Amino acid sequence: MDRIRLRGGGPLEGTIPISGAKNAALPLMIASLLTDETLTLENVPRLRDVQQLFHILANHGTDWSVEGKRAGQNDMTGQTVHLCARAIVDTTAPYELVSTMRASFWVIGPLVARMGVARVSLPGGCAIGTRPVDFFIQGLEQLGAEIEIDQGYAIARAPNGLVGARIDLPRVSVGATHTLLMAAALAKGETLITNAAREPEVVDLANCLIAMGAKIEGAGTSEISIQGVERLRGARHRVLPDRIETGTYAMAVAMTGGDVTLEHARGDLLTAPLAILERAGAEISETNRGIRIRRNGAGIAAVDVETDPFPGFPTDLQAQFMALMTTAKGTSHITETIFENRFMHVQELARLGANIHLDGQVATIEGVERLRGAPVMATDLRASVSLVIAGLVAEGETTINRVYHLDRGFERLEDKLGRCGADIERISG
Ligand code: UD1
Repeated sequence: MDRIRLRGGGPLEGTIPISGAKNAALPLMIASLLTDETLTLENVPRLRDVQQLFHILANHGTDWSVEGKRAGQNDMTGQTVHLCARAIVDTTAPYELVSTMRASFWVIGPLVARMGVARVSLPGGCAIGTRPVDFFIQGLEQLGAEIEIDQGYAIARAPNGLVGARIDLPRVSVGATHTLLMAAALAKGETLITNAAREPEVVDLANCLIAMGAKIEGAGTSEISIQGVERLRGARHRVLPDRIETGTYAMAVAMTGGDVTLEHARGDLLTAPLAILERAGAEISETNRGIRIRRNGAGIAAVDVETDPFPGFPTDLQAQFMALMTTAKGTSHITETIFENRFMHVQELARLGANIHLDGQVATIEGVERLRGAPVMATDLRASVSLVIAGLVAEGETTINRVYHLDRGFERLEDKLGRCGADIERISG
């Protein structure tokens, strides 16, 4: 199993290209199941979750290919992917393929909408709480599907097709919004989703579905209406930049000091975290190349944060922000409201010398003068990158084990940081 070794050091200086968003690419790829024509996606990141989803989609009968490099492109340029589910040959998403990635459960929506039946293994994914699927099941039932849970599988049946309905989501769920949006696109009549997720990735999916011929209004607000259509066609769509990757590197620069341009990043996708970083002492500006982040001299101030659905502070940046707060001047509080068990990085940050007290959903962080390198363990995707951020300033050597978690969601992390002066390397095996 690969490890990452890094030595805390000086500031980061240079340019980091921001990849296409993993959390947009996954639902967009799944949307290819809705049509027998080719969906072409540009700017797809090279990540383990993306590779895994290719396998899952191929099992349903999707042909996929990745375009070769064109002049002017390099290893950091997002890939262009063609997906064509001309015929769905299998409506089962088996446990072996689905268990490592929760988002793969979302195939249930397009499969039942197009084929009238779907049999999908209940999901696994990051160990950050129970993450149930009740909203998906209730929502699909409201669209007329019959759902049965049998031997670890959710089986959805709608032999006469789905029928539009009003769906009031009990709480904001990104995955349920994606799935019901895709299902409703092929349902008969109108669907209204209330309390819908407003995340930019939902808007990206809706824009792609619209390009495929869907009739959708209100994506990006909490009420989305969908007028079902009989069939969808192929389209070409560019995946939006990854706001979580952007926020992660912005926090890394706030942590180490320096001056870095996050190329292709879009500030409007992460207004809340950038405002928090400014309060903590970073200087942020938008340029025509992306976002420039600087911190020179002054230390980091302690700032309280509560995670919330978009446009609030994203739970996917909570661990990284906690890493930043470990060396802030003073005491900060971080409240996690989305997932009940998303503090596994606390123990590992403590191994680097952080002073964090946990009380239910609230972490209290007393800033310390310095962190010290140590061997640590990556526990989930975002937690593992928080250890990288801490390791960038920890005295001496930090080794992060189980970095396969990182590879699920961060493309070429060690290259991107290494080019900006970080002393970081991957040790294979
Ligand atoms: C997505 C993101 C993930 C992010 C999360 C919250 C992807 C691939 N993943 O995950 O990175 O951390 O949004 O922004 O885009 N819930 C239920 N019942 C359900 C569904 C959800 O109770 O049927 C709960 C969850 O347990 C959680 C909350 O709703 O407490 C929000 O989860 P949700 O938005 O669905 O997260 P994901 O879509 O899985």
